[in-house]
Amino acid sequence: MAEWTPSSWQNRPAGQQPAYPDSRALAGAVAQLASLPPLVTSWEVERLKTQLAEAAAGKRFLLQGGACAERFDQCSADIITNKLKILLQMSLVLTHGLKRRIIRVGRFAGQYAKPRSADTEERDGITLPSYRGEIVNGPGFSAEERAPDPERMLRGFEHAAMTLNFIRSLVDGGFADLHHPEYWDLDFVSHSPRAQEYQRMVESISDSLRFMETLAGIRAAEITRVDFYTSHEALLLPYEQAVTRRVPRREGWYNLGTHFPWVGLRTAEVDGAHVDYFRGIRNPIGIKIGPTMTPEWLLELLEILDPNSEPGRLTLIHRMGHAKVAERLPPLIEAVQRAERTVLWCCDPMHGNTETTAGGRKTRRFENILSELEQSFEIHADLGSYQGGVHFELSGDNVTECIGGARGLSEVDLDRAYESRVDPRLNYEQALEMALLIGRMVARMNSE
Ligand code: PEP
Ligand code: CO
Repeated sequence: MAEWTPSSWQNRPAGQQPAYPDSRALAGAVAQLASLPPLVTSWEVERLKTQLAEAAAGKRFLLQGGACAERFDQCSADIITNKLKILLQMSLVLTHGLKRRIIRVGRFAGQYAKPRSADTEERDGITLPSYRGEIVNGPGFSAEERAPDPERMLRGFEHAAMTLNFIRSLVDGGFADLHHPEYWDLDFVSHSPRAQEYQRMVESISDSLRFMETLAGIRAAEITRVDFYTSHEALLLPYEQAVTRRVPRREGWYNLGTHFPWVGLRTAEVDGAHVDYFRGIRNPIGIKIGPTMTPEWLLELLEILDPNSEPGRLTLIHRMGHAKVAERLPPLIEAVQRAERTVLWCCDPMHGNTETTAGGRKTRRFENILSELEQSFEIHADLGSYQGGVHFELSGDNVTECIGGARGLSEVDLDRAYESRVDPRLNYEQALEMALLIGRMVARMNSE
């Protein structure tokens, strides 16, 4: 294979890239970005890789979640705090139900670029470039907003840095301390139909923690300190190139703009630019796989992206849809088993279950999301494989974007608080309920 550099992807066809009108402005933004200090360190990246390897071996479980796309105007204290709260609550519930340590990875601090089904959008006879996320262009339908602007990469990096800075100081300051789950209470703790179940679980965990600490005579520091890692779809390649760095005392190159980048479904061609970019970085990486993935294609990807079968390197995030998972997932699991490869399997039950309402809203049904999860846990168990993770699009706020859940949100509710410009997210109640149901589901499967 040809020699790799952070820019060697430029020799391959690159899908889903904006057409920047001014190549000098692009080069200037990339150069400026490349000179800035990184957001994460290789130490953190390697620690995550080790933890993902443990998850692949069945000892941990990955919870990955956040917005479909972050917005610059939602880079605010309450939105970030609420997102952390719901992820912490879900991870507490999953620890309880799965009896495993949870790896928390946010779709945040850099989740700004979106793949689109068409390069252009037409309204009333006017054709403009599609909206590709805040890091590329603006959502408004005007030529000015939609023109791709490389300066937005710098804005994206700054917003990612502010987001991560706030998350780090919340976590370091003790916000995520398991001794104080009340810090993460959201309004629904008193209102949700599932509130009591959650409270009972919190009490039971607090009891166990006190019991253990009394026995050991120490405070469980490892539990007190909870880690959060960042992830995003590494879609906009000039940006990813600029945050790819060498570090002292380690070999190779790291993407230091995030801990855990993933390759999207639409850009996973084996000879495409994205796969070329990913093969050269040392980070753990995710690959989104959908119903059109074949065993041959998958094995080729594994060969290119993980030639040395490195533990923790690959997470396969499958998103088949509830109607297709039973048919499409087993051949892929079997192919990976036949090739004697170890990967971490993670189910994204969101992206294969998107539908559009008669009123033109993109939505997802709670029951379909749950059904894909349930089928996929069972498929893995039947084949002697381990589903070691889940991937959600969620919000810590009371949005109304997905239908269903204990409160029975219906199509007419969607207009009330629909905020996503792209995919619909579970709201905080739906997300917590999902975690409770996963815990129950896995506990039941283990006892069968
Ligand atoms: C996403 O995760 O927002 C996304 C676009 O996913 P996929 O590549 O699986 O369609
Ligand atoms: Co999405």
